[in-house]
Amino acid sequence: MYTPLWEFCRHKYIVYTEGVSASGRLKFHLLCGSVLVSHPRQWDTPETLTMVEGKNVVTVQDDEWSDVEQVYRRLEDNSGLAEAIAAENRKYYQLLSADGISCYALELLKCYSEAMMYTPPELLVGLLAVLLGTLLLLRSPRKRLSPRFRFPMLGDTIQMAKRPSAFLFSRYKEFGPVFTLDLMGSIYYVIADLEAQRRYLYRTEGADAAIPIKAFKMLTEVPSPNSDRVNHPIWRKVTMAAVGPQALQTLFPPVLRVVQSHVDSWGALAAAHQQGEQQAQQGIQVPIYQSARRLGLALSVDVLAGVELPATVDRGQFKQQMEMWMDGLFGLPLAFPGSKFARALAAKDWLLARIMPAIREVHQEFTREWDAASGDMGTMAERMIRQLDRQAAESVAGGGGGDGQAAAEGGGSSASSRTGSADGSSLRAAGAGGCDVAGGGGAAQQQAKEKELLHTLGRLPQAGVLGFFAGKFTGLRESAFAVLQTAAAAADTTRVTLLSTLALVAMSLRVQEEIFAEQQRVIAEFGAELSYKAVSNMPYTEAVVKETLRLLPPAAGGMRVLTEPLQVGDVVTVPKGALILSYSNLMHCIDPALWDGNTAVDEPAHMDWRNNFEGAFRPERWLSEETRPKYYYAFGVGKHSCVGAQLVYMEVKIMLALLVRKFRMRLQTPDMLSRATWLPFLAPAAGTDTMILEAR
Ligand code: HEM
Repeated sequence: MYTPLWEFCRHKYIVYTEGVSASGRLKFHLLCGSVLVSHPRQWDTPETLTMVEGKNVVTVQDDEWSDVEQVYRRLEDNSGLAEAIAAENRKYYQLLSADGISCYALELLKCYSEAMMYTPPELLVGLLAVLLGTLLLLRSPRKRLSPRFRFPMLGDTIQMAKRPSAFLFSRYKEFGPVFTLDLMGSIYYVIADLEAQRRYLYRTEGADAAIPIKAFKMLTEVPSPNSDRVNHPIWRKVTMAAVGPQALQTLFPPVLRVVQSHVDSWGALAAAHQQGEQQAQQGIQVPIYQSARRLGLALSVDVLAGVELPATVDRGQFKQQMEMWMDGLFGLPLAFPGSKFARALAAKDWLLARIMPAIREVHQEFTREWDAASGDMGTMAERMIRQLDRQAAESVAGGGGGDGQAAAEGGGSSASSRTGSADGSSLRAAGAGGCDVAGGGGAAQQQAKEKELLHTLGRLPQAGVLGFFAGKFTGLRESAFAVLQTAAAAADTTRVTLLSTLALVAMSLRVQEEIFAEQQRVIAEFGAELSYKAVSNMPYTEAVVKETLRLLPPAAGGMRVLTEPLQVGDVVTVPKGALILSYSNLMHCIDPALWDGNTAVDEPAHMDWRNNFEGAFRPERWLSEETRPKYYYAFGVGKHSCVGAQLVYMEVKIMLALLVRKFRMRLQTPDMLSRATWLPFLAPAAGTDTMILEAR
C-alpha cells in the first residue's frame, strides 16, 4: 500500500528496512524529524554513510527485530535521547538543499580524483614544471631528506610495495639515517639513528604512540589505550598479564585447538586430492594466502577477542564482517558506495550491533566495579592482574596446556564445550575468555564463587576496557571497540607471519629437514602429543619464526607523533608534529652483526632472499651468541614493544610442528614472494599462492 511522506512523518518512530528499491526512501524518513529505527544495514546509500548509531538512528540487534521491544522501552524511558535523534534528523534537509548536494558532489569528485591512478599528461607536465621550479628556487644549504622528484600523489608507495627493504636501503645510502617517505598520502620520517631512537622509544615524553591514519581512526573511533601517555604503563601491565609470557600456558590449549583444526582441514583437503592418482603424484594443494588469513583471523577472534555472542548470530558471518572491517583500516578513507572503506564502515556498524548487546551486562558490571573503586585505575588493574595470575597458576597446577589430551579437548573448559567447534569457529575458546580455565580442587571452586570481572569477554579486551575507562571512554559502544581493537592488533600481523613463514619454509627443503629432526627429538623426549612443554622446547623452530620476521617483517614498526622537535645527529631537526618510524626492514638491513657496511650492493646479502636465498634465510644464526642478529625490530623496541610476540612464536611453532611432522612442502610457483606486493601487507599475485604438501 502506498503511504505518502506526510503520513510517515506523523509518527514519532519510523522503521527503516532495506529493500531493492525501498532503500531509496531513507532520505525521506530522515527528513521527517522522527526517531529512526533500523535493522543492521548491509547496503550503502549516500544517506547510510551519514548514519551514526545513537545520533541519528537506533539499530536493533538483528534482522528478526528480536530486541525491538527493549529498544522501544529504552527510547521511551530516555526521552532526551529520542528527542536528540529526532532533532538531529530534522537538520537533514540541509544536506538535501542545492548547496548540500553540490557539496556532496564536490567531495565525491575529490575522493574520486584521489583514488584515480591516472593523471592526464598535460597536467603531469605542468605539475612537474611547478615542482622542479619550486625545488630549484628553494634549494638551500639545509640537508635534503628526500629526492628532488617524487611521483605526484603516489609518492614512494609503488617502490615500497614492490621491494621495501631494497628501497629503504637505497634511501639510507643516499640520505643517511634520517629521510622522509611519502606513503599513501602521508609523509613519514624514517629514523635509523640509534641515539635518536633511544630517546623516543624508551621515553614516553617527546613522542606519542599513535596511528594517525584517517581510515584507521574512523574505523576504530576510540584511541587505543597505548596512546594515553599517563595510563599506558598500568594498561600495559594488565595487557601483559593477559597475553604476555606468563599467560602462554593458559592460552596454549585454545591456540592448539584452533591451529590443529585448521591444519587438519588442509590435511583433509590433502586426503581428498590423494584419491585421484594423478593428483597424488602432484601432491596436495593448499592456497596459503586464504588459509593463513583464515587461521590468523580465527586466532585473533576466537582466542583473543573472545566475546560470547547469542546463538542467533551467525559466527561465520561475524568473522566475514570482521575481515571486511579490517580490510578498510589501512586504505584510503573513500566512502563511495562499493569502496573497501564504505564496506568497512558498514561492517563496523554490523559488528557493533552484535557486540554491544552481548557485552551489555559485562559493561554494567564493570561500571559498578569502577565506581566502587572510585575510578582508580590502579585498584582495578591490581584486581584484574590477580585474577589473571591466578588463572595462570591454575593452568600450571591443573596441567592446562601441559597435557596434549586436555589441549585437544579444549583444556577441559566448560566454555569450550559450550561454544567450541571442530573448525575453531566459536567466538570464545577455552581458557581464553578469562575465567573458564582448566584445573579444579577446593581452592579453585572457592575462587570460582568469587565474582569475576568481565566474565564473558576475552582477556585482551578486558585490558582494553580498563584503558578506555581510565581515559574517560566509559560508554558501551566504546567498550565494544575493545573487542574490535584486539582483533586489529593481532589478526593482520599474525596472518602475514603465518603466510611468510609457510612461504620461506616451503622454499627450503634444508630448513624443513632441520625442523623435522627437531620434532623427532621433541617426540622422543615429550611424547607424540603436542604439549606446552614440547612447544617450549623447539629452539630451531622458534629460530625459523624469528628469521622469517627478520627477513620479512609484517609491520613497519612502532609509529610515533613527535610532541617536541627531535634532533638527529648535528644536522637534522625533525619538527614537532612529524610522523616518525624506525622502519624494521631498514634496521634489519643495517644490523652491525650482519652487515659489513658495503654500500655498493642493492641490498645487503643477509637480507637479499631474492638473489641469495640460502645465505639470507638462515635460522641457525639465532642459535649462538656470536651470530645472533643485534637489531630486531619486527615487534618494535622499547616501552611500546609488542606484548603478543611470545604468543605469536607459540602459534607459528605449533603450525610448523603439525605440518612438518606429516608433510614436505614446496611452492607451486617458486618465485611467489618475488612477485608479491608488500603494502600494506604481503599479498601474492593472483594464482601464485599454492603450496604443495607431500606426505612424508
Ligand atoms: C607477528 C605478529 C605481530 C607483529 C609483527 C606485531 C608488531 C607490533 C609492533 C611493531 C608494535 C608496535 C611497537 C611500538 O609501537 O614500538 C606492536 C604493539 C603491540 N602489539 Fe603487536 N604484533 C604482532 C602480534 C600481536 C598479537 C598477536 C597481539 C595480541 C596478543 C599484539 C598486541 C600488541 C599490543 C597490545 C601492542 C601495543 C603495546 C604497547 O603500546 O605497549 N600484537 N606490535
